[in-house]
Amino acid sequence: MEIKLVEDAKSVACDLLVINKFENESTSSDFANKYAVEDDKFEGKLNDTYLLQTYGQTPAKKILIVGFGKKSEFNSNKLREAVAKAIKKASSIEAKTVAFKFDGVDFDYSEQLTMGIYIGDYVFDKYKSEKKDKHINEIYVQANEGLVHKAEKVAAAMNFARNLANEPAQFATPTELASIALDFGLETKVYDREECEKMGMGAFLAVGRGSAQEPKFIHMKYTCDNPKKRIAIIGKGICFDSGGLDIKPASSMLTMKDDMSGAACVLGIMSIIKEFNPQVEVHGIIAACENMPGCSAYKPGDILTAKNGKTIEVDNTDAEGRLTLADALCYACELGVDEVIDLATLTGACMVALGTHAAGIMGNDEDLVKRLIDVADRNGERYWQLPLWEEYGDSLKSDVADMQNTGSRWGGASAAGIFLQKFVKDVKWAHIDIAGTAFLDKPQKEFIKGATGAGVRAILNYILEV
Ligand code: BES
Ligand code: MN
Ligand code: ZN
Repeated sequence: MEIKLVEDAKSVACDLLVINKFENESTSSDFANKYAVEDDKFEGKLNDTYLLQTYGQTPAKKILIVGFGKKSEFNSNKLREAVAKAIKKASSIEAKTVAFKFDGVDFDYSEQLTMGIYIGDYVFDKYKSEKKDKHINEIYVQANEGLVHKAEKVAAAMNFARNLANEPAQFATPTELASIALDFGLETKVYDREECEKMGMGAFLAVGRGSAQEPKFIHMKYTCDNPKKRIAIIGKGICFDSGGLDIKPASSMLTMKDDMSGAACVLGIMSIIKEFNPQVEVHGIIAACENMPGCSAYKPGDILTAKNGKTIEVDNTDAEGRLTLADALCYACELGVDEVIDLATLTGACMVALGTHAAGIMGNDEDLVKRLIDVADRNGERYWQLPLWEEYGDSLKSDVADMQNTGSRWGGASAAGIFLQKFVKDVKWAHIDIAGTAFLDKPQKEFIKGATGAGVRAILNYILEV
């Protein structure tokens, strides 16, 4: 699919012209006004659509009117969602060439228009022997060239991450993630089991021990002359979470190939970062392994020593993400960066609290958390702050080690945050729990079911805005 910039989208000969209609207003197309608006067939309620055959009376063979709802309530997030739905509609009627002509919208119109096109066009059909041959070849837009090109790259990073998280665990192994990371042409180091042992990563390695897949600790680095800031982004990289010996019930295990969505986000961002050339140093870090109940698996009651020397009693082998992140956080803090941001499908508790519409965010620096919430908000993600009061750590106390890896069921997202904080030293840090937002079991807004690329839009834009 290719996006082409045109002066007047309405005059393009194409299979489908997509136009908008606000409630109580007419559209920019006389044809649409005559056959759908003036006789009140189509009101323009948000996300309603109306398809018209034009029988040679316009350059476009068909016109799709998309309802934008009340003008006063419209914004760029609604625009992106409407565009994604229009794209799906266009595919379903097998349009090969589609033009977009929207009236009465400005803001970052061009950027979210482009995002909506690429997010809406996404399918994961690589394992279908009969691919849906419904792809749109050409899209014509009237838009700002710079913003379209920017959004094309952000969307590519997002769909790269979606592909990785949708990929079955049998293929998206720690070794595979490492080889993908090595292909970006960045300065990249992959540490194997022995090297991680030498670094003292006893928590990370314990999690990977029950699997036949070798663990890999991945560190990618993008840098430039005189970076304005140095940031490390860490992604939880559990390529499959069976729960380990504290095994999950079948229904909870079903989607656990998505437990590397944080890693997928980091890889998505690192895959495109050189093309943006931002004035920031960015470290992408992933402690990749599987959590399996093999005969060498770590056990409840084991006591692990993390990279910073702290000891952890294993209370539940299914609270594995925080163990791998503990060593990754220690590693990141030793890089001497200004900020560390981790993204993790960490707790079912966060999903219970916020559902699939928002990720939980916690951190030790209010300003960093606020800036991340704001950039997420402007780019189609929602982050909601959860508290990190020290009382949430009470239940992490262990009789035999410095701490245990789980605590009370109540407030589980915050307890996990407090656990992570014990491995953060002398750095501004934010933790984003994407358990609810990374993978959908049914379509939502601009997304089909499956991986959403959670974190890519917000964190990539955060980096670009430094
Ligand atoms: N990967 C899961 C969290 C998760 C749950 C992600 C649902 C996406 C959807 C994590 O490793 C986990 O198993 N957490 C446990 C922690 C508990 C044992 C303290 C949980 O949330 O149940
Ligand atoms: Mn788990
Ligand atoms: Zn997990």
